[in-house]
Amino acid sequence: MRRRALIGNWKMHKTADEAGTYIREFLPLIQNIASVDVILAPPFTSLHVVAALVKDTSIGLAGQDVHWDSQGALTGEVSPAMLYDSGCQSVIIGHSERRQMFHEDDNAVNRKVKAAIAHHLTAIMCVGETREERANGKTSDVLTRQLLAGLAGIDAIDDTQLVLAYEPIWAIGSGTPATPTQANEVHAELREHLGTLFTTAIAKSIRIVYGGSITTENIQALLATPHVDGGLVGGACLDPSNFARIVSSAAN
Ligand code: PGA
Repeated sequence: MRRRALIGNWKMHKTADEAGTYIREFLPLIQNIASVDVILAPPFTSLHVVAALVKDTSIGLAGQDVHWDSQGALTGEVSPAMLYDSGCQSVIIGHSERRQMFHEDDNAVNRKVKAAIAHHLTAIMCVGETREERANGKTSDVLTRQLLAGLAGIDAIDDTQLVLAYEPIWAIGSGTPATPTQANEVHAELREHLGTLFTTAIAKSIRIVYGGSITTENIQALLATPHVDGGLVGGACLDPSNFARIVSSAAN
């Protein structure tokens, strides 16, 4: 049985002060929830504040991006060891906003995934098609390419090293999520690929979360499908009580 994971991606929101306020409000709301993994991905500048506040709780911490090198003359970048040292156990890699706005390609995603794993971080690897690709019947091709390229050269993996996130680009921030059927269909296919790449047992153990316009209203139907193992939540996680409601729905 895969444990559900709810990941709150703050994107470029909240100062360190605001992050502190969020956590102090959020913690009491979810303190009795033990059956799902809750992971927060604040901006780099708030990692320390959040890490200190969640230290004795079960809440996990994730970076929103990472560079593959350990150090170097790479202005603006953050290494896997820096994330680990800041209290992160995982990192989001290949989010479509990075792919589209910052020209991150499959090869960069692959290098980041490998570097994260090498530094004991769980790679939360995102894949997703555009509206146009879906309309042209290319969804399967695009996702297969992103998955295979992102995991190229990795011979063995386990569920502590990888979480897959299916995030259709047309669903992100649009208010139009994938239907549970659409999400489940894609997740089932991704899982099949994982089985071919690794083993059926590994494929069964790896969590595939869905992201794109998740709300308190739609989370339960998405999670009711067999292959959706959680959510990567953007806009709806920015308010602590709203995200706590989503987490509670996932726990029920
Ligand atoms: P959204 O974003 O929930 O605001 O659609 C999800 C994401 O991009 O991770």
